[in-house]
Amino acid sequence: MQEMAPDTVRGHSVVFAPRIQDLLARDTKVFRADARTVGVSDAALTAEIVAARPVLQTERSVYKPAAGADIPHDSATRTIRALGQDVMAGIRTPPPPARALAGAWPYAPTSYLRRWLFGSDPLPLSLLAKRGITRSDTLSRLVDRTVTVWPNTEAADGRSTTAMAGLIHGAADPLERKQAIAMYRRASATLCDGVAALAGNALWLMRATDTPRGDLTAALWETLRLLPPAWMLYRNGGEAYAGLHPDLGPEDNIALLPLLMHRHPDYWPDPLDFRPQRWAEVADPEKTPGFMPFGFDGARCWAKHLVVPLAERLLTVALDHGLTIRGPRQDAPVPLRSLLSVRFEASVGA
Ligand code: HEM
Repeated sequence: MQEMAPDTVRGHSVVFAPRIQDLLARDTKVFRADARTVGVSDAALTAEIVAARPVLQTERSVYKPAAGADIPHDSATRTIRALGQDVMAGIRTPPPPARALAGAWPYAPTSYLRRWLFGSDPLPLSLLAKRGITRSDTLSRLVDRTVTVWPNTEAADGRSTTAMAGLIHGAADPLERKQAIAMYRRASATLCDGVAALAGNALWLMRATDTPRGDLTAALWETLRLLPPAWMLYRNGGEAYAGLHPDLGPEDNIALLPLLMHRHPDYWPDPLDFRPQRWAEVADPEKTPGFMPFGFDGARCWAKHLVVPLAERLLTVALDHGLTIRGPRQDAPVPLRSLLSVRFEASVGA
């Protein structure tokens, strides 16, 4: 299984963290990753695992419990609708100055997206989406408390606030308000971090393979195949999975591995080649067997319809303003993180 093992993927010059390299080197689709975890990249088994039981509240990311209570379904759907409105509004408004995209990727575009989409919210709300704050638990708690007592939604310059801020302002009781604050923070972080990672991975792959600008939507789907930001999905073990495969015991946790599935020669011709044209004629990429950048039926991403259009808009701004990758020239690192992203430095303009 030579095609699955290289630490530097052919033509793409990325270097994965050793733990990821180790997974890429496995030559079976079901394998023991460590004493407590079984890795799975088999498409049929993955579909069975996802269908075997719903994700647990504690396994959810954006919608894991907040303020000591589960997130009710109707408030989860309100959140996704509000996020959709904010993304669509953002896509239609002029972006911030593109020079802010210069610097270390994916951090520069993460901050850029936060400013673009949520920057119209007044203090202290806008601090919920500020990177310097979200990286510190203490500061996050402080901001949460401030917003709880002072959910100011009057923008000083008369601009309307985001729909996500509207959910905080319109909360019916203190618990709903606290949960709306957590949703704002988590949804804005997941969106901006994920889209920045996806756009950065696409820029790197396009540069490394001399792919002309062309069809950016297709380039993004091909990036979601080869360097999917959500590269590993975790399930806590249990009886629901035990009968599905001889190697899966009731004590075993499961790491579902889109990154490996998306490069497997059983599912893809020339799997390691970056070829956006694979997607040119594909009406619904997510129906493609062996492809799960946004999960499988049963736990599919609620925000998937927002991610590719926003990433495309970001890439368009970056390329229109002459964003250039400055380094490294080869072998960009891909560290071990929950989101898979290539690290590089970029400059903007001449
Ligand atoms: C680039 C950005 C994103 C990527 C690549 C992505 C990817 C995924 C993937 C792979 C899954 C399946 C997870 C599993 O089966 O364990 C998933 C599920 C989900 N995603 Fe996303 N996601 C992104 C952004 C978002 C955002 C911004 C939200 C905001 C609300 C969101 C909400 C959800 C929800 C609700 C689920 C279903 C699981 C659950 O019920 O908690 N995602 N996503």
